[in-house]
Amino acid sequence: MPNDLRVQAEQVIERCRYLAQFTEESGEIRRTFLSPAMRECMHTIQGWMQSAGMTVMTDAAGNLRGRYPAMNAAAPCLMIGSHLDTVPNGGAFDGILGVMMGLALIEALRGEKLPFAIELVGFSEEEGVRFHLPFIGSRALVGRADAGMLATKDSGGTTIAEALESFGLEPSKIQECVMGDDAVGFLEFHIEQGIVLESEDRSLGVVQAIAGQTRAELTFTGRANHAGTTPMHLRQDAAAGAAEWVLEVERKGFKTPGLVATVGDFRCSPGAVNVVAGEARASLDVRHADDDVRHWAVEGLLASAASIAKRRELAVTSKLLMDQSAVAMDGGMCAMAAEAVREVGISPLSMVSGAGHDAMILQERVPSTMIFLRSPGGVSHHPEESVRPQDVENALATGLVFLRHTFKPVHKEQSV
Ligand code: GLV
Ligand code: MN
Ligand code: MN
Repeated sequence: MPNDLRVQAEQVIERCRYLAQFTEESGEIRRTFLSPAMRECMHTIQGWMQSAGMTVMTDAAGNLRGRYPAMNAAAPCLMIGSHLDTVPNGGAFDGILGVMMGLALIEALRGEKLPFAIELVGFSEEEGVRFHLPFIGSRALVGRADAGMLATKDSGGTTIAEALESFGLEPSKIQECVMGDDAVGFLEFHIEQGIVLESEDRSLGVVQAIAGQTRAELTFTGRANHAGTTPMHLRQDAAAGAAEWVLEVERKGFKTPGLVATVGDFRCSPGAVNVVAGEARASLDVRHADDDVRHWAVEGLLASAASIAKRRELAVTSKLLMDQSAVAMDGGMCAMAAEAVREVGISPLSMVSGAGHDAMILQERVPSTMIFLRSPGGVSHHPEESVRPQDVENALATGLVFLRHTFKPVHKEQSV
């Protein structure tokens, strides 16, 4: 007979796979911020949350927020959550697993009330796909969703404020998304999205720090011209210049220990087979655990873009989209999470996350930690992303020990 937690673990996985049907592109999982697919996904989760005894609302940033009450009204609140959006052609677990984990833990309590409330958050946006600006949902919870952020435009010229309005939300109320003063901790469950746990043969890890990241967009401008009649030495080919720089980005990543540097989006215009590109746009994503190394690398890459452009008689401009510092998770929360993992008989691995997570934003305002679940094959941001039922069961057991025994809420007044 399978035990209750095994049944719940299987249900967590089934729910993630079920929610994957809410996509903007048939045949793949693509669920971006404020899309119709996101609305349907949220509607389904809201029903599950309400059945689990939670009061649920959607805040002005599109975050789905449910509250499970404490033993008494004046009690503090533990936040649990992760994001609901995906990358294009993503997997079924990145983000949403953390929300389904929180829901399953509340269901496992079967109405038992704890000395703290639980707020379960499904963040509306973490990946930065539509607006090239990640963490829109979690920024709103820490009060970092300002007018500048709301004015950010997508590729069609729609601002975040306009997109929120079309979804039926009120961007003027974005400051009301800020988490309550009663919040005393944030816990995020997430797949590792890497190979470390698997290679160490471990089920779970506790994240001690999250690498910082820079995101930018570079535009190389040359001169569009006829591909058949323009001699090679008389071209100002923006695509060739940008491509040379892309290889420079890759070289920098190879040469610098601990650095990862990526151009994941590359577009030429006018984008016709028989026209020399007049413009090429390239995204840039650079990450390192040490912010100084990351800043040094980004400066170097901008300088090489300028020198490549000069030599090729192109112009280049860059737009910085994000400079997110590396963040240490809260020591106390990490210790309580690690103790809970050990209590269920598992030796937790202490880890640094190369991927960005909502927890790195929440940590600005509330002590935060993350529990990673092994990613089979280290595969993520890919349709083959998966998770093992045994690891989900272990994470659920850990979560219950955390809630019932190891998490000791510290009131804000006590912590200063
Ligand atoms: C989020 O998935 C990231 O890009 O790190
Ligand atoms: Mn992701
Ligand atoms: Mn994620």
